[in-house]
Amino acid sequence: MLRPTNQIVVIFGASGDLTYRKLLPALFDLYCQSALPDSFIILGVARSSMSHAAFCDKMKEGIEHFSNLVKKNESLIEPFLSRVDYLSIDTAGKTEYFKLKEKLLSIDKVYNTGGNYLFYLATPPSMYETIAQNLHAVDLHQEEAGKYFRRIIVEKPFGYDLASAVDLNKKLHLVFSEHQIYRIDHYLGKETVQNILVFRFSNGLFEPIWNRNFIHHVEITAAETLGVGSRGRYYEQAGAIRDMLQNHLMHLLALIAMEPPVLFEAQSLQNEMVKVLQALRPLDKESIENNIIRGQYTGARTNRGFLAAYREEKDVAPDSTTETFVAMKVFIDNWRWADVPFYIRTGKRLPSQLTEVIIHLKATPQALFKGQCTGPSCNKIILRIQPEEGIGMQFGLKSPGSGYNVKQVQMDFKYSELANTYIPSAYERLLLDAMHGDPALYIRSDAVEATWKFIDPLLKHIQTNKDFKLYGYPSCTWGPEEANQLIPEGWSEYPAYCSIEEEPKFTVLG
Ligand code: BG6
Repeated sequence: MLRPTNQIVVIFGASGDLTYRKLLPALFDLYCQSALPDSFIILGVARSSMSHAAFCDKMKEGIEHFSNLVKKNESLIEPFLSRVDYLSIDTAGKTEYFKLKEKLLSIDKVYNTGGNYLFYLATPPSMYETIAQNLHAVDLHQEEAGKYFRRIIVEKPFGYDLASAVDLNKKLHLVFSEHQIYRIDHYLGKETVQNILVFRFSNGLFEPIWNRNFIHHVEITAAETLGVGSRGRYYEQAGAIRDMLQNHLMHLLALIAMEPPVLFEAQSLQNEMVKVLQALRPLDKESIENNIIRGQYTGARTNRGFLAAYREEKDVAPDSTTETFVAMKVFIDNWRWADVPFYIRTGKRLPSQLTEVIIHLKATPQALFKGQCTGPSCNKIILRIQPEEGIGMQFGLKSPGSGYNVKQVQMDFKYSELANTYIPSAYERLLLDAMHGDPALYIRSDAVEATWKFIDPLLKHIQTNKDFKLYGYPSCTWGPEEANQLIPEGWSEYPAYCSIEEEPKFTVLG
């Protein structure tokens, strides 16, 4: 494996949850695969005054809990941690960045990291602009082509609406060039999401039917069984629309619907993704009211015990009108997809944990056989992103015996059946790409603005139309009944691994 150039990975927000659960475990897993540079340092930066040893202890605990490879590589924890350092500064204070600069220069001298710095913003979004400006103030943003690089990874949420996203892009561009900015969406780091591209563009079989002539409708679902847990404060500001729809689901849609890129490299790929996002049919009052359903989970007694309502979660207002579920029907106004509905839904506290895309193909023009499927959902291509990562297909075959009775069967490929295949976590893949300087799986500024431009009318509608309903759905149901009506009966079915032990009470909360 080609290793990235020697560098320092500087993580702002190093005392936070993301660093603990995702970033350090992912970097450790890369280390176990000898994928990190020959020489590197991971420098955690945060306000908390913590000793280097205390920081390493905390990171060790995170690795033990969340790394995929730690069980077979326990002996590597200490050597890995010998490459982890910590600096406590007030990240809001400009003069503090001289300390950071000094620290980086001294690491460069000892570890031969050549002035290559990858900054990771794992802080609350309100700090993004300040950190960028402060890096600028001490000249840490400036790279020299062919000599050393400076890159910055920006976590989601990127903006709060279109205006704030445009503003953030503007502010970051005052300091960094676009090629230095890596806007992360961890969905694009998932193996099975990348596989959508390979499945579509490395096979002659699917591309000819991947259009309005053959496809009846497309379903994109990201269902979660968990509630908001301890993230109430963040989630109250975000809701399902900002947390999942504007980014993860929009980007999945772009990969499903895009044209083949001219080359398989960042610019071509990103160009095609943006074109899809720009072709989304704009949302107006009528389409919002007819095609979008918001919901919020309510308490229910289930076969997993009592599950509390969203309004009873920690840091959530008792009369909160934040949605934890959203379902919508959208159209892409271009030659390939005209009039093909895309049904998107996501929610917390649903009956099963699954992310998948189902391509529903049109029926044959004539039904020759008894029992032949003639509905809108006969042949299906199922791209299972998680869990049980894989691809399934459904088609009709002859039932054995006399006559010509047709039975729908499934053909399934499971990633887990590929012997000895380790599926890297999304953060492993994305961190490594940024270390290599490959932005293909990161989000470009025009893409981020295109998704916000699409979502913005919905956010404004919610804000200004108090009679746009928020439905309550009991935990462990598939969201509000109205969302099921959005998609005609027989067009979709999902398994339920959790059920409620009483008659579900669907309500209107706002
Ligand atoms: C995050 C959201 O971006 O994605 C969470 O903030 C959500 O609310 C998570 O639970 C889902 O990611 P995954 O990889 O578990 O599907």
